[in-house]
Amino acid sequence: MAVKRGENEEFKQSGHVLDINEIYKSFYIYMSQGEEVISDKKKKRWFSSKQENEIKALQDIFLKVDHGEFIALLGPSGCGKSTLLRILAGFESPSSGHAKFKGENINGPDPQRAMVFQSERAVFPWLTVKGNISLGPKLQGVNSEDMEKAVKDTIKLVELDGFENAYPKTLSGGMLQRVAVARAIVNRPELLLMDEPFGALDAQTRNNLQDHVVRIWQSIDQTIVFVTHDIEEAIYLSTRVVLFTSRPGRIKEIVPIDLPHPRDRTSPEFIEYRNYCSKLIREKEKQG
Ligand SMILES: Nc1ncnc2c1ncn2[C@@H]1O[C@H](COP(=O)(O)OP(=O)(O)O)[C@@H](O)[C@H]1O
Ligand SMILES: [Mg+2]
Repeated sequence: MAVKRGENEEFKQSGHVLDINEIYKSFYIYMSQGEEVISDKKKKRWFSSKQENEIKALQDIFLKVDHGEFIALLGPSGCGKSTLLRILAGFESPSSGHAKFKGENINGPDPQRAMVFQSERAVFPWLTVKGNISLGPKLQGVNSEDMEKAVKDTIKLVELDGFENAYPKTLSGGMLQRVAVARAIVNRPELLLMDEPFGALDAQTRNNLQDHVVRIWQSIDQTIVFVTHDIEEAIYLSTRVVLFTSRPGRIKEIVPIDLPHPRDRTSPEFIEYRNYCSKLIREKEKQG
């Protein structure tokens, strides 16, 4: 498949795809007449004399991501990985600091930054595989010839050829998740954001999908930020593992993974990376 470059290529030489600068994020929980209210803004004065409860989700996050990287955000549950991903998607804004995408502040969602949701949220049961994948381009008014080609190429890329007219209820969990990935990549976004997309699947399907994602990443020259709490998954997939502390999430260490794809989970080098990351995580637990 042809690699889409154009403006991305220009940007590759001049800057970072993502520039995350000193991000803090807090949520506030207030009680109002016995009711719990969650907010991402300081609203104490609106809830006179009520106690505020601040949840610090992210603290002091700096990260620069180059075009074509595959970044894994690795950390324990509740450390703010999803919050950071939602900030990058533009679904949420930081309490302070900023995140820039290709030099511009992220102020909201953008088709160039696509989120892969878990299939049960991403796939419409009343549409066929093809119907699901073409929905995005259709809504964006892509002309039918370009859309046909993009949808066909994407179906091939996620290896769902022959299932174009199948309905979701006839597909396995792994195939459904590939439809969800296809929906996100059909417009070839620069940045693909994935939040534990394979978390709900069995180990074998999960390994299989990891291989799919690596192949897709290699063939369409994309930047990926992938959230996981699985050390092995992070090392298997990424060019750099960004290791978080527990809440409030701070970056503990960034570990570049210098192994060629496809990777071998049983190789001594792989195991060395795994032991190294496990050790870092254990160290943190001892401190905390
Ligand atoms: N909308 C929200 N309102 C209040 N608290 C939230 C909200 N979203 C996340 N949090 C809190 O922020 C922390 C980080 O959450 P999250 O980013 O989902 O962590 P992770 O994805 O690493 O498991 C958690 O303590 C969570 O309860
Ligand atoms: Mg999460």
